[in-house]
Formats: sequence, C-alpha cells, structure tokens
Amino acid sequence: MELLKQKILECGRALDEHVLLVDSFLNNQVDVKLMQEIGREFAGRYAGAGVTRVVTIESSGIAPAAMTALEMDLPLVILKKSKSSILKDDILQTEVFSFTKNAPYQLTLKPQFIQPGDRVLLIDDFLANGEAALGASSLLERAGAQVAGIGIVIAKTFQPGLKKLTEAGYRVDVLAPVKRMAAGVIEFD
Ligand code: G4P
Repeated sequence: MELLKQKILECGRALDEHVLLVDSFLNNQVDVKLMQEIGREFAGRYAGAGVTRVVTIESSGIAPAAMTALEMDLPLVILKKSKSSILKDDILQTEVFSFTKNAPYQLTLKPQFIQPGDRVLLIDDFLANGEAALGASSLLERAGAQVAGIGIVIAKTFQPGLKKLTEAGYRVDVLAPVKRMAAGVIEFD
C-alpha cells in the first residue's frame, strides 16, 4: 500500500536493525485518515471472503481494525492482554511470549463475542515474531471460529512471524512489508 509506505518513509524512524518507531501515526498519535484508508484496503482485499467479524489485539491494533470493521459493516472484537491467568467459565486465555518486552502475557477472549462458525479477519498493527497472531488464532479456533485471514499493517519480514503464519496455513495480507532496517534506513520488499 503506497500511501502507507510513503508515510513510513516520511514519519517512521528505524532506531536500529530491529525497531521501527511509528509513534506519530500508529502507536501513540493516530493518523485517522490513514487508518480509514487502511480499513478500505483490508475491506477490499477481503470482500467476498465471507468474513463475519473483525478481531484485533489491544491496543495499537484497535485503530486499523475499527476502520476495517466500519468499512465492512461488521462487529469488532478486542482481545485483551492480562498479566495473570484467570480461571473463569466465560473467558478463554492463552499465554503469549512478547520478545520485544521479554515477558509473557495472557491473551484473553470473551467467547460470548465469537459465535461458532464465525469467519474472522484478524487485524494487527505489527508482525514481528508472530506469537501474538498465532495465540490469537488459536483462541479464536478454540471458540469455534475460522480464521479467514490475518491483516497486518507493518510486517518486519526479516523476523520469523510471516513465515510461521503462512507455514501454519493462514492467509496473511501485509500492507507494508519491511525487509531491512538500519539506523535511518527503511527498505520494503
Ligand atoms: P509478535 O507479536 O509478532 O510476536 O512480536 P513481539 O512479541 O516482539 O511484539 C510485541 C509488541 O511490540 C507488539 O506490540 C508489537 O506490535 C510491537 N512491535 C514489535 N516490533 C515492533 C517495531 O519494530 N516497532 C513498533 N513500533 N512496535 C513493534 P504491543 O506490545 O502489543 O503494543 P501495543 O499494541 O499495545 O501498542
């Protein structure tokens, strides 16, 4: 998606080979017009895919996912991150390890917001190691849903997430695939 790539080149900052700072339009401040275009892009790619619900992971996934849900006229469900596991009938959880934060968390779904047979479009802002997306997909499948696809705003394709998800059989749509970074350098696939 050219508009997004331009924005990343103009406003993003590669801190080093691993970390891309996009706080001015995605993580801390949000460019809502760009999010609207991102929503239109995902909606176009998944038109006719039989999607019944859009799902995301708090917090930075919410803006692009909300715009996607708006464009597709579908409900948006948010998976929360909890520090500890909660044993309750109305909650599904799975442990996800965040390599960026070097700590595990419990990804949490309230299954009353997913119907068995739902076809879910999972949207997230970043794909790095793929642990969050794999955890989310397994939770959704445990709730009886099918993952129609995974829509990622920015993927660092030199990290293992994209390969893991495609090898697991998921359709993955990446709007801005970043193949290489260095201080002050950002290159797309
Ligand atoms: P994974 O989800 O692909 O397994 O990767 P990882 O555990 O490494 O990512 C943990 C968090 O760091 C996620 O956000 C992810 O979006 C974010 N992240 C990973 N690489 C980058 C990067 O290069 N730049 C930025 N800006 N973020 C990155 P999170 O902790 O869940 O944060 P939030 O969604 O609550 O904002």
